[in-house]
Amino acid sequence: MRTRLTELLDIEVPIMLAGMGGVSYHELVAAVSEAGGIGTLGASTMSAAQLVEEMALVRQLTKKPFGVDLLTASPASVEAGIAAVIDGGARIYVAGLGVPRDVVGALHKKNILVGSMCGKVRHAIAAVASGCDFVVAQGTEAGGHTGTVATMALVPQVVDAVGDKVPVVAAGGLFDGRGLAASLALGADGVWIGTRFIATPEARTVGGYKEALLGLTEDGTVISRGFTGKTCRVVRNEWTQHYEEHPEELRPFPEQFLVSSRAGANHLGPSEGVIADMTKEFMPAGQGAGAIHELIPAAILVQQIMDQAEQVLSRMSGLRHS
Ligand SMILES: Cc1cc2nc3c(=O)[nH]c(=O)nc-3n(C[C@H](O)[C@H](O)[C@H](O)COP(=O)(O)O)c2cc1C
Repeated sequence: MRTRLTELLDIEVPIMLAGMGGVSYHELVAAVSEAGGIGTLGASTMSAAQLVEEMALVRQLTKKPFGVDLLTASPASVEAGIAAVIDGGARIYVAGLGVPRDVVGALHKKNILVGSMCGKVRHAIAAVASGCDFVVAQGTEAGGHTGTVATMALVPQVVDAVGDKVPVVAAGGLFDGRGLAASLALGADGVWIGTRFIATPEARTVGGYKEALLGLTEDGTVISRGFTGKTCRVVRNEWTQHYEEHPEELRPFPEQFLVSSRAGANHLGPSEGVIADMTKEFMPAGQGAGAIHELIPAAILVQQIMDQAEQVLSRMSGLRHS
């Protein structure tokens, strides 16, 4: 399938693995890139040294393009991260928080494409004005830090605002080929999928997180500030319930991150092998989690999404003639 996104990134299918901090490490990133999409390392929970190592490991597993996602919250870590991205052979850099104004020029000089996560139309306009090459329009359904506008409403409005200048990628609550076809119908050029890829053997998580996703219903997530201090969609549990009832105890970002980490409720990061207490653990997840019933290798997942999208698109084009 060819879209403006596949052309821009030189990939075969318009599926991007979200750069999920603590989850998207080299195994998952390389699997998605090898399958024809593009994998993005979730570097927000990595040290600069670990990012360098992860990028080298990706390059050992695939020659295809891959990316890095960094939160643009702490300037010191961003500087080290950008240097690693430039040296490590990434094709794309995605800014998870805020418009990456100060780094676009340096990345472009090294032929690295820059994307920006956007929860509002004005974020997308600012990102494009700063020179970003594509934007990800992320609806409130998304797992992780998220805004208030739903994917269905946000994507076409972002497309109207900036779609004539750059490709728009849809995100939030998308988990299969129907979501890809719907995103294309809304004017997007591809999808950026997070939660569905957590339920793969290649994803790294704390013990119990993948199983928790398999048991979730469509309303099993909640937007909480209890783990990081910012609004984050996560699996609902006793920890989120506590902060719903005691919002006065919340600390601002990123202090609340330390609060949850110190309390043993936040293992996002290098925590494989740890079995967490699910009644309080930080498990970012989107509203599509209710549709996840089994772990599927990432390459098969990419293929299934593409096959289903093709079926939906041909069924839809058949509607015109009946
Ligand atoms: C476990 C997890 C960690 C995430 N970490 C980040 C991150 O570090 N940076 C970022 O830009 N987005 C992050 N996100 C958001 C994703 O990039 C993506 O927008 C979201 O997962 C899409 O919605 P979906 O989960 O419904 O597919 C995270 C999401 C999850 C589920």
